[in-house]
Amino acid sequence: MTEHIQYSPEKDALVLLDQRYLPTREEWFVCKTVNDICEALVVMVVRGAPAIGVTAAYGCYLAAREVKGLVPADGDWKSLLAAKLEQIALARPTAVNLRWAVRLMQAEWAKRPEFSLDELSAFWLAKAKVVHAEDIKTCMVIGQAGMDLLSDGDTVMTHCNAGALATAGYGTALAPIRAAVAQGKKIQVIANETRPFLQGARLTAYELYRDGIPVKVACDNACALLMQRGLVQKVIVGADRIAANGDAANKIGTFGVALLAHEFGIPFYVAAPVSTIDPETAEGSLIPIEDRTPREVTHVGTTQITPDGVGVFNYAFDVTPARLIHGIITERGVLTAPYTEAIAKLFK
Ligand code: MRU
Repeated sequence: MTEHIQYSPEKDALVLLDQRYLPTREEWFVCKTVNDICEALVVMVVRGAPAIGVTAAYGCYLAAREVKGLVPADGDWKSLLAAKLEQIALARPTAVNLRWAVRLMQAEWAKRPEFSLDELSAFWLAKAKVVHAEDIKTCMVIGQAGMDLLSDGDTVMTHCNAGALATAGYGTALAPIRAAVAQGKKIQVIANETRPFLQGARLTAYELYRDGIPVKVACDNACALLMQRGLVQKVIVGADRIAANGDAANKIGTFGVALLAHEFGIPFYVAAPVSTIDPETAEGSLIPIEDRTPREVTHVGTTQITPDGVGVFNYAFDVTPARLIHGIITERGVLTAPYTEAIAKLFK
């Protein structure tokens, strides 16, 4: 996979592969300011919980650099910078990785109160590069942790895109699949198309096909039939936020897939880094659900598909209750029920 998140020293900017146009066009979106970063997050130039965390880390660096141009040398740069960090943290509400990355950068700043703005900005750029590199390593460890859950010949269903494009590289839900394939197992993937943004049809299919892993796209509403016909052996999805009791928020439709997997006795796994677990959110009903622009539902590309004036629902995520989850695959191993205990132990 092309590295889709790149810091360019020449441009002194974050350059992102624009996921709105995949798979038909590879265009790049250049972020130089906090507004650019927030636009990229909101319109989903970059999306996927870990990928938006990495983007936010670079965003903190860009915020520091921007503030330098706005405040006189002896001015109150700290409050303006804090406000810009908050703007980034709030760009999307559900994926906790965004807030996680900003809080991480703030905590590093708090340890170094003597830093000048120049020192902080240099420090944050280096730190963002570390967050970026560590995310790829974490995904690879998730792959190792989950690969033995898959058997030779399995067909694995996934929902949305929790692959290289949703992380700094390699993926979360796709990581055990990639690792099992590297072990020599024959694995096929069913990518649910994932209306309305079509992350499955456009992005999961794009990256697996490029990497030579057999993939077929299915309409979201084919899930029950495919499972009933015995065409799915495992389900692995990513997560945007996992509550302290193991309830997991992921792309809208995931809950339905989990209910169907339960009905047909198919193991349903969630794969995510520990940074996606939010021990401060006690249970799934407390996770904020993003309500996105109606246009994503009323249009496919530039084509309008609903009558003028008709309202739509565009909740971007739903929450799968922990009781439907066979295991949460993390870089610290596979967590199993009871999740409240397993998660508390992880954060001890
Ligand atoms: O709205 P998106 O595309 O950012 O939603 C992404 C998902 O729901 C993914 O499945 C999830 O973030 C896991 S990403 C590794």
